[in-house]
Formats: sequence, C-alpha cells, structure tokens
Amino acid sequence: MKYSDKVLDHFMNPRNMGEIEDATTTGTVGNPVCGDIMKMDLKIVNNVIVDAKFMTFGCGSAIATSSMSTELIIGKTTDEALDLTNRVVAEALDGLPPVKMHCSVLAEQAVKKALETYYKREGLMTPERAKKFAILGKCEHDDDHENCECSDE
Ligand code: FES
Repeated sequence: MKYSDKVLDHFMNPRNMGEIEDATTTGTVGNPVCGDIMKMDLKIVNNVIVDAKFMTFGCGSAIATSSMSTELIIGKTTDEALDLTNRVVAEALDGLPPVKMHCSVLAEQAVKKALETYYKREGLMTPERAKKFAILGKCEHDDDHENCECSDE
C-alpha cells in the first residue's frame, strides 16, 4: 500500500493531537468498519472554531486525516466546517489508498457529531443544518461501493 508524503507527515507528526480542557463541544464516534474510535474536541467562539484537538484509537490513516481535518477547520465558521467532507480531507493529503477511505470518515463524523451537539445545545439547529446531519453515518464511498466494506446499498 502506497501512502503520500503528506499522509506520512501527518501520521508521524500529528497536528493538534490531545484534548481541549474547556472545549465548547465534543464528538466521539466509532468506525463501524474496523471498530476504531475517535474523539474530537472543539473550542467555538462566536460560531468560529478557534481550536480543535483529537484523540483516537485508530490507524495511521485515521490519525493523518484527523490531523489534517483539525488544520482545515481551525479558523472556519461552524457552517464551513460542517461542509468539510472526508473526500476534501483526503484530497488535501494527496489521496488515501482506496481501502483506507473508510478511516477518513471517522474524523469527519467526529467533527460533525461535535457540531450537532453544539447546534442543539445552543438552539441553533435549523432545518438546513438538520438536513446535513441526516446523512451522517451514511457511506460516502464510490457509487458502486467498490472499495469499501460498508453495508450501504
Ligand atoms: Fe480503523 Fe483506519 S483501520 S480507522
């Protein structure tokens, strides 16, 4: 399996690994494919993500995608972060081997879970936002699911 230099860099030198003591919200999710776990802490001020940190019992690809995800969402509004997909993160890493794409879903879902909790708690869940959360957990792999082990049709 061949990994890009960026994946290797983020795996060996993960950015923003750890916890935020006074996090505004937290998302913890498990990967149904491999059973690995991810926790994402977000610090949000005026709807802007000012800090993000992750911890994971995940593989190297999960670590690399989480690391890249935190870099991509810090400084963004919560709505901009909500639109960040695992594909965008994988592209920012110059790609992941197809069998490892499911690992990148973990970071995306942890971010979204944290945002969902935040929106609900703050009374900010609008129908448009709710629609985006409705697809949470669905496989975003190729249309024919050629390279994944999910059970989606
Ligand atoms: Fe579990 Fe990659 S194998 S996250």
